[in-house]
Amino acid sequence: MPNVVVIGAQWGDEGKGRIVDLISEKVDIVARYQGGNNAGHTIVIGDEKIILHHLPSGILRKDKLSVIGNGVVIDPKVLLQEIHELVSAGYPANETNLKISDRAHVIMPYHRAIDLARESMNGDGKIGTTGRGIGPVYEDKAARRGIKFADLIDAESLAARLKAVLEERNLYITNVLGGEPINFDEIYEEYSQYGKELKKFSCDVSTLLNDSIANGKNILFEGAQGALLDIDFGTYPYVTSSSSGSGGASTGTGVSPTTIDTVLGIAKAYTTRVGEGPFPTEIFDELGEKLREAGGEFGATTGRPRRCGWFDAFAMRYAAQINGISWIALTKLDVLSGFEVIKLCIGYKHKGNELLSFPSTYQVLEGVEPIYIEMEGWQEDISQAKDISELPVQARNYLQKLEEVSGVPIYTVSLGPSREKIIFLYDLFS
Ligand code: GDP
Ligand code: IMO
Ligand code: MG
Repeated sequence: MPNVVVIGAQWGDEGKGRIVDLISEKVDIVARYQGGNNAGHTIVIGDEKIILHHLPSGILRKDKLSVIGNGVVIDPKVLLQEIHELVSAGYPANETNLKISDRAHVIMPYHRAIDLARESMNGDGKIGTTGRGIGPVYEDKAARRGIKFADLIDAESLAARLKAVLEERNLYITNVLGGEPINFDEIYEEYSQYGKELKKFSCDVSTLLNDSIANGKNILFEGAQGALLDIDFGTYPYVTSSSSGSGGASTGTGVSPTTIDTVLGIAKAYTTRVGEGPFPTEIFDELGEKLREAGGEFGATTGRPRRCGWFDAFAMRYAAQINGISWIALTKLDVLSGFEVIKLCIGYKHKGNELLSFPSTYQVLEGVEPIYIEMEGWQEDISQAKDISELPVQARNYLQKLEEVSGVPIYTVSLGPSREKIIFLYDLFS
């Protein structure tokens, strides 16, 4: 059975939670490898809708092991709340089915304070972050002043690390950002209590995963955000602060790249983006509004309206190139019902010249003009289709063209948010 990495192939919110929940049935372990509670992964089971921010999207499957890797950043308060909510809803989230890397970094109150203060200070130049402290915590990790999960669960280490970093962070908050200093005693009390509650989940994740692979178990590595929000290959600086691409699966869990068999890229049948930054295929007229309404395109974490646009196959080819995407899981095809014409972006022009590769700067990306092909739309509700042959010919043509111009085959097509509304075209797990 293959070890598979699941990533977002666009700017996030592609339906990763929905697909991971579904295919986690076929694996033994689901391991989240980066990001934090900036993620909002929605899973719909019958009438129940669950939004996960920290927990891997395999957690709803009772017999699967869920793992949070070292590449993830953890807000302990949010994580505990998520665990409690899940348990109240009747799903297990205990030390038997949930393990957390002791190397993961912890989001502290000063990270959130810095994130929010910077965004408001930057005005029009803001990134449009989720305000969860993600940039500042990864910054502290790289600056070697972070607090790890291993510190959080050990009161003495927590005190020592906090003493070592808080004074300097407070100088930054007060002198540079004009904010209020954070009191050591208050956060130490609160966070050492979280540490006590979370200690039972602590684990050497790399050893656990490598031993599991050696024993014939298979792993699904779950990415958050998306390829175009990746710190290195995304639309910098309008990105998140971690490696959301497939390479992050290895550095974020301690499992070698040679153990990964395949990469599944999740993409919407159109494109959305939350926050600031270039978005070549964005639709500004009422068609964009129609997509937002039909697709319920409002952020699962912040509730912000998502910007909507046409499918960008040029960006998809780039995402496939840097991440080795071998299959696409296409979501939300049902949302495109009712459009007369559907556009597909197959390339970019910049200053009159067609680009050969995806721009590496946001300045160029902001100035590109998408090259579109137009496809005839369909009017029927397709959400009940059980087989590709039941789709209108225009929808089948769209899928075929999308595959062709993206250069990646489609593994599955999703036609609704709930588990049964999906058509599989191949079997990756036999
Ligand atoms: P994630 O962050 O990639 O897990 O995606 P989000 O949960 O933030 O956003 C995806 C949204 O689309 C959620 O509200 C899902 O319930 C919904 N969704 C997923 N797949 C489909 C689909 O095929 N059709 C429709 N209509 N909704 C879908
Ligand atoms: P999931 O996993 C969509 C965006 C933010 C902002 C930028 C930086 O649900 O797909 P950050 O708070 O990470 O510093 O914000 O990244 N962003 C997301 N957009 N889905 C997400 O997660 C996102 N996580 C961060 O809107 O533009
Ligand atoms: Mg989301």
